[in-house]
Amino acid sequence: MFEKHGSRFATLLLFSILFVMAAEGPAFSEPSLERGKYLVEGPAACGNCHTPKGPDGEIPGMDLAGMLVEKNDAFTAIAGNITSGGSVGSWSDEELAKAIREGIRPDGSVIGPPMPMGLYRGISDDDLKSMVMYLRQVPAVDNDPGTSQYNIPLPPAYGPPITSVATVPEGVTVEYGAYLAGPIAHCTECHTTFGEKGPMFDTHLGAGGFEFHGPWGTSTASNITPTGLDTYSDTELDGMIRKGVRPGNARMLPPMPYPYLARMTDNDLAAIVLYLRSLPPLPDGGK
Ligand code: HEC
Ligand code: HEC
Repeated sequence: MFEKHGSRFATLLLFSILFVMAAEGPAFSEPSLERGKYLVEGPAACGNCHTPKGPDGEIPGMDLAGMLVEKNDAFTAIAGNITSGGSVGSWSDEELAKAIREGIRPDGSVIGPPMPMGLYRGISDDDLKSMVMYLRQVPAVDNDPGTSQYNIPLPPAYGPPITSVATVPEGVTVEYGAYLAGPIAHCTECHTTFGEKGPMFDTHLGAGGFEFHGPWGTSTASNITPTGLDTYSDTELDGMIRKGVRPGNARMLPPMPYPYLARMTDNDLAAIVLYLRSLPPLPDGGK
């Protein structure tokens, strides 16, 4: 992380952090069930893909029990039952964690799109542990949503094996906002222009343009760089992100996970807004 010539400074910094910790008690949050519940039911919105929906939204008693997410020429993607009533019930905590962060199941098979695997590789060790803790105690549902079929080749892996991802300190900072908008809430998965190999993070981060088709018709992911958001106040952005309502009260279209994002804390929302406002402005993608 630190460059060589900075290592003495890093050591000093580490000591001062340890000193502050010793003086003020633990400053780092430990993995916890509470944190896991917040992430899974809130900004990470796992249920947006994994909880079966009926005409009135989520079907009660079916939390995370699996559903058909997308059917197109390239694939029929079925998000599995991730309660202990599904096949994950027989996996160890480590195996479940590896499936979430690296997209590799215990039998070596790879989890396909649209689960946002590229971004999930950035979930911190602590948050991953918290998520697994929470998933382990979600009520088991006996439901078999079926099996996905991919007519496109899946990669053998999404990258080299991950040993550790450091915690990004919580706070209203661009850095924490980037962590939330990326690895946790995958805003940038939907809002980055898609190319042949998926979202073009290097050149089109946040520029939008991807079209989603569903019972609602077609919705297009907006440009969430400052080019797209400059004219909105922070309160208007809150309305769109946590309530799914545009200025003037028009309801926004799926599949943005509004009911989940609604559970996001004020500070987490503020960190995301700070981050979005710091992005390099880009013209609308996909045009
Ligand atoms: C955008 C949709 C989407 C989101 C969001 C999503 N998933 Fe998935 N997930 C899928 C799909 C689709 C599959 C199955 C892919 C396949 O069959 O290869 C899957 C598979 C899985 C599997 C493997 C299940 C099995 O039985 O093989 C686990 C575990 C999992 N997801 C956990 C999570 C967790 C935890 C979250 C939230 C942090 C999450 N997913 C968010 C779509 C999603
Ligand atoms: C599953 C895909 C998806 C995810 C995840 C997602 N969005 Fe969206 N978002 C959309 C779509 C589609 C629209 C357009 C909705 C419409 O036209 O009514 C949208 C619209 C918006 C808008 C409205 C901007 C404008 O000018 O129209 C904002 C702001 C926004 N998203 C921010 C976010 C943030 C922040 C996150 C993460 C916390 C996020 N989105 C996660 C798909 C997504």
